[in-house]
Amino acid sequence: MDKQAHMSIESPVSSTLHFHDYHPVLDDFKAEVLSGLSRASRQLSPKFFYDRKGSELFDAITELPEYYPTRTEIGILQEHGEAIADLLGQNCLLLELGSGSSKKIRVLLDAIKPAVYMPVDISREHLLGSAEALAADYPALEVHAVCADYTTDFDLPCCPDHLPRVVFFPGSSIGNFEPSRALELLRRMAHHLEEGGRMLIGVDLKKDVELLHAAYNDSQQLTAAFNRNMLHRINWELDADFDVQAFSHHAFYNEPEGRVEMHLVSNKAQAVTVAGQLFEFAAGETIHTENSYKYSVEEFQSLAEAAGFVPEKVWTDDDKLFSVHCIRLLKRGQCLQ
Ligand code: AVJ
Repeated sequence: MDKQAHMSIESPVSSTLHFHDYHPVLDDFKAEVLSGLSRASRQLSPKFFYDRKGSELFDAITELPEYYPTRTEIGILQEHGEAIADLLGQNCLLLELGSGSSKKIRVLLDAIKPAVYMPVDISREHLLGSAEALAADYPALEVHAVCADYTTDFDLPCCPDHLPRVVFFPGSSIGNFEPSRALELLRRMAHHLEEGGRMLIGVDLKKDVELLHAAYNDSQQLTAAFNRNMLHRINWELDADFDVQAFSHHAFYNEPEGRVEMHLVSNKAQAVTVAGQLFEFAAGETIHTENSYKYSVEEFQSLAEAAGFVPEKVWTDDDKLFSVHCIRLLKRGQCLQ
């Protein structure tokens, strides 16, 4: 969707903060919801979780005792910040995909000292709020906040272009994509890098099923609220009448597929109208809202290699819950295919 780039408006919010709005979602939320609900196995994309309320709920999830990924990844970044900075170098243009509340980057900023930080996120208010706070705390840092859907092709806004680029893709967001789409996404991210450019990517590891189950079925039921919020959002934004309480949260590890699946299960036979279209749910019928793939270190390294990267270094925590990979884009001529 190259045309997105032309819709970018640059508005300087302060001297060091620039905002580029590519207007994601508005174009396709309705179309994607209607087509996802029309399929034989109904599904909604997890990227639609992150409206204002959903982003708040996700932030609350990251603080839960059961939800190990965020704190474990931050621990790895803290412990190995200097080694990471040594690999990535200073004064780069640091592009973060799915920056959310930009908390993780703060752990790295002092070590990496990038010249430009470019957070990309689909959630506009969240992006602006966190970019403003960051620009205020790091007055010397040039911040270019980009509101865009990083799963589509978009051109980076023009800004100092002589800087070496580094892509930071934390949080195991890569796990939301089927392996074939994850491969495609890594290849797309490679477009933002020059030859030999590096990417730092957080990937959740395969582990004990009980731990996975607890992380997606927390005792405070925040994950359930996060899952159901998708239906609230559809009610608000697409003039729908989901009886949200009539859908239950269901999350489980699908071992053969190597992924946690989240679903919303219809508690009874019911009909729902979305943007004037009627959908009939049987009791027990589900809407699949998320996959969260888990990778062994070797599995992720093979995926990176297939996308044209060389695995350079990987860090994990002592309990082997989470991994942070540094991968490097092959130089031309080194291409394996
Ligand atoms: C942001 C995709 C990594 O899969 O763990 C948290 C989202 N879903 N609880 C994940 C999520 C349910 C999260 N990712």
